[in-house]
Amino acid sequence: ETPSRCSSFEEYNETAEWLLTRTKIRPIVAIICGSGLGGLADRLQDYVSFKYEEIPRFPTSTVPGHAGKLVFGKLEGHDCVCMQGRFHFYEGYSIHTVSYPVRVFSLLGVKTLIVTNAAGGLNDSYSVGDIMIIKDHINMPGFAGQNPLCGPNDERFGVRFPCMSDAYDRELRSKFRSTAEAMGVTQFLQEGVYCMLAGPSYETIAECKFLQTMGADSVGMSTVPEVLVARHCGLRVLGLSLITNKVITDYNSEEKANHEEVLRTTQERSNLLQDLVCGFLTM
Ligand code: 6GU
Repeated sequence: ETPSRCSSFEEYNETAEWLLTRTKIRPIVAIICGSGLGGLADRLQDYVSFKYEEIPRFPTSTVPGHAGKLVFGKLEGHDCVCMQGRFHFYEGYSIHTVSYPVRVFSLLGVKTLIVTNAAGGLNDSYSVGDIMIIKDHINMPGFAGQNPLCGPNDERFGVRFPCMSDAYDRELRSKFRSTAEAMGVTQFLQEGVYCMLAGPSYETIAECKFLQTMGADSVGMSTVPEVLVARHCGLRVLGLSLITNKVITDYNSEEKANHEEVLRTTQERSNLLQDLVCGFLTM
């Protein structure tokens, strides 16, 4: 039985065709900006932008006044498409809908996906404000049967059983590291394993300890569905986590995970992250 939440090749194609007739930009790179990290979209030159609502078959944002948009333009001379505002599973979208834009990007001709997110730091050696290059992920919703590749497989996108052991491109990671070295900001740079949970609740202390034991270095509520779909259709992926807070693992701690701290760190560090992504594209 085909779950009704799955879209057909023709539907993705309809979205892609609509966009291609409205811009001369032919993006090679797609960037999905994490919460508070959408400033990158404002740096695009010669840009054209589309509100999600106006794009045929594109998912629409649930938060009123938080209209997401797709921006096409040039970043450091490269044709790019940038999602300002992503779709989260915790908002109530199906895992297929969350990753819908990625197949559209592939049909537009995109070859590389850059994804950013705000994440909690699980690794004790991480500091708030660090930028973690994602080396690998743990797909917790996947363990619970939520994988965007579930359902009939369309070979025009990719194979039934895609490999994920090389999900985060080694060459792109190394290039990002070189960019950070050239910019003199390696003191903020980490590389590690990102774990996705469905959210929207933050983790309990026991869950944080569990995730640390499993080998996760950062935890968040996004990114993995988009990466799975990107790898399925052969896009190369660079993933970056901004460590916005440290998780709490001490029962005696009075601290609490909170959205305000996440937003504060994002504001303080978003420009550095954006500079790094721009620097990465220049190299
Ligand atoms: Cl501590 N947990 C999760 N799941 N997502 C986050 C976070 C923590 N900090 C930022 N995003």
